[in-house]
Amino acid sequence: MKKSIRDYDLERKTVIIRVDFNVPMKDGVITDDNRIVESLETIKYAMEHGAKVILLSHLGKIKTEEDKKGKSLAPVAAHLDELLGGGKVQFVPETRGALVEKAVSEANFGDIILLENTRFEDVNGKKESKNDPELGAYWASLGEVFINDAFGTSHRNHASNVGIASQLPSAVGFLVEKELRCLVPVTEQPEKPFTVVLGGAKVEDKIGVIRNLVKKADFIVAGGGIANTILKGMGYEVGASLVDDQNLQFCNEILRQNRDKIVLPVDFICTTDLKSNQGTLTKLGQIKPDQIIADVGPETIQLFKQYLDISQTIVWNGNLGVTEYSSFSEGTKATCEILKANHGVTILGGGNTAEAAINFGYKHAFTHISTGGGASLDLLAGEVLPGIEVIDDVCPQKRIAM
Ligand code: 3PG
Repeated sequence: MKKSIRDYDLERKTVIIRVDFNVPMKDGVITDDNRIVESLETIKYAMEHGAKVILLSHLGKIKTEEDKKGKSLAPVAAHLDELLGGGKVQFVPETRGALVEKAVSEANFGDIILLENTRFEDVNGKKESKNDPELGAYWASLGEVFINDAFGTSHRNHASNVGIASQLPSAVGFLVEKELRCLVPVTEQPEKPFTVVLGGAKVEDKIGVIRNLVKKADFIVAGGGIANTILKGMGYEVGASLVDDQNLQFCNEILRQNRDKIVLPVDFICTTDLKSNQGTLTKLGQIKPDQIIADVGPETIQLFKQYLDISQTIVWNGNLGVTEYSSFSEGTKATCEILKANHGVTILGGGNTAEAAINFGYKHAFTHISTGGGASLDLLAGEVLPGIEVIDDVCPQKRIAM
């Protein structure tokens, strides 16, 4: 069992909390603040228990200087400050150096400092994403206790989680505790039938996990990029739709071995221009080379419903259509409605899926909305999450007591 934030006396300590503020944004405006809201309990706990709090988070994927544009955490700091009542959060637009050190040394106990996007360190040599030991040690040198409350990033072995935790006494925060409480029982013993709904655009991430999940699940209901890839592998025309060509063969194999478990769409809403927000109902086998699959069709929704209605445990990751457009949102909305009516355990994961479900008014329609996408899928597939694994156990083997 991992240590909890409650296991430390935080009074007059500098506490580093890794949060996952990788929130969706449009033109600098946060479009879904669920991850920030879910982090508040841990942040407030640390403040109220007399700690000086340093928050670290990434935002997006940063490879070049150009990628940094629009990926500053400044708007997140402003929003967090508003949620905390104002005048509490200081944003430091650097990830290291004199400005950071000055802010930390001058802050009072009870104050919060948010540093700039940790992945800005990826521009020169992927220091954050490759868990550069010097970077982890530097961040660790700023504080005395490390709390991982970034469940969504726990499947990554990065400097801002594993790197720091390897150097300091550590624990998990309330958000991570809640995620583990909700997800671990499903991982160990899901009530059957157990159905996994997979959609969205991050095809490659899901293809890795599907190999393990397919063994545990009774049904895999597939939409989005993953369905497109499987269908293309089966020889169907999918037009200009999102497909992971690298994994066509893998998808073929999985399908051949599990034909009775995998439920695929039979009709679609297709378009030649997503921005037009206009689609045509198109059956499988009739998609033209210039068309893009933008959503599942009504027959597919009914087919999926048959499997979902009999399921006792449902885990859903990834939208079934391009939900930024109203005409391509029906499949995702209908799935929210079907899960809302289900009396079993319903778990939704993934930033975009959570955002869509919450924006469509389904925030309270599920047993649990996970703040993790890849992390929740990895956990459910039985993989070890490095960001959790590294945290001190309740009975530490070799840590020095604080
Ligand atoms: C997520 O959104 O799943 C987490 O914040 C991790 O982001 P990543 O997939 O870019 O590592």
